[in-house]
Amino acid sequence: DAILKDLATAEATNQQELEQFRLKYISKKSVIGDLFNELKNVPNEDKKAFGMKLNEVKQAAQSKFKALIEQLESGGQGTTMEHEDLTLPAAGHTVGSMHPLTYVRNQIIQIFERIGFNVADGPEIEDDFHNFTALNFPENHPAREMQDTFFIERNPDILLRTHTSNVQVRLMHKQKPPIRSIMPGRVYRNEAISARAHCVFHQVEGLYVDKNVSFVDLKQTLYHFAKEMFGKDTKIRFRPSYFPFTEPSAEIDISCQICKGDGCQLCKHTGWVEIAGSGMVDPNVLANCGIDNEEYTGFAFGMGIERITQLKFQVNDLRLYTENDVRFLKQFSTLH
Ligand code: PHE
Repeated sequence: DAILKDLATAEATNQQELEQFRLKYISKKSVIGDLFNELKNVPNEDKKAFGMKLNEVKQAAQSKFKALIEQLESGGQGTTMEHEDLTLPAAGHTVGSMHPLTYVRNQIIQIFERIGFNVADGPEIEDDFHNFTALNFPENHPAREMQDTFFIERNPDILLRTHTSNVQVRLMHKQKPPIRSIMPGRVYRNEAISARAHCVFHQVEGLYVDKNVSFVDLKQTLYHFAKEMFGKDTKIRFRPSYFPFTEPSAEIDISCQICKGDGCQLCKHTGWVEIAGSGMVDPNVLANCGIDNEEYTGFAFGMGIERITQLKFQVNDLRLYTENDVRFLKQFSTLH
């Protein structure tokens, strides 16, 4: 009975006290354990009553032990709250912020939405047809080789898309012109990771197909984009280039945002940085996608979001985007 009384008032406000309770009442060497050892010395006629009482005590100890554990786990409510100073200010917690790539992607989308483009989406795991063949890549084009493309399966080839141009193909199959869309997304290339290259990055593809779309539309659209993104003094230039899916093709440079023309590492002292590939959609591609290439023309462009972000925020190492270093991420805490 004395033990039962003690049990009723026992408390444990921390793990040590809980352990003391366990040693005292639950373990083999506890007071209750000792009494069980005594059982053999109790005269036969009293054994039954003594045993029943002991079991009652043992159960009381066990259920009290359970109750104490629960109380501790739920934060010691009732007993310990009295010791908390509820007037103390709460501990501060850090709020995350938008990733610079997300911010720039959204900004690119906004700029193009305002001039009538909508956003389209497509798969990152793609077949050879949508990533290469429909885009007029010759059978033995080097971009199909293992060093550039991550293949998932061969014959028929399934791969991680190497550019967002696969969405062009899917869109043209699905939709009749006019088509005016941008297609942001993740792309993959089998490249060694360095300050200037990564095996995963992001592109935004643009496609405009309609009657009478000309190179002038392409030029004005991208000029407009460059000024909106980098400021109205930004200069733009087109350099002849080659892509299997556009003819003619051009690479687009903007005036270097970092050195403002005085020469730096990024623009290799030329004052110009490449931001996009572009061109008039090759009539073969229109035909491959079921669009009448006598009636319709189009332009397309593709740009790297990492590169645009790099120019906008002067990020000098591509690896920073994916390393999750808070010292880097914190610098963008005002973006939203
Ligand atoms: N797909 C090309 C690339 O990844 C970019 C591009 C898109 C070029 C559309 C022209 C037209 O390099």
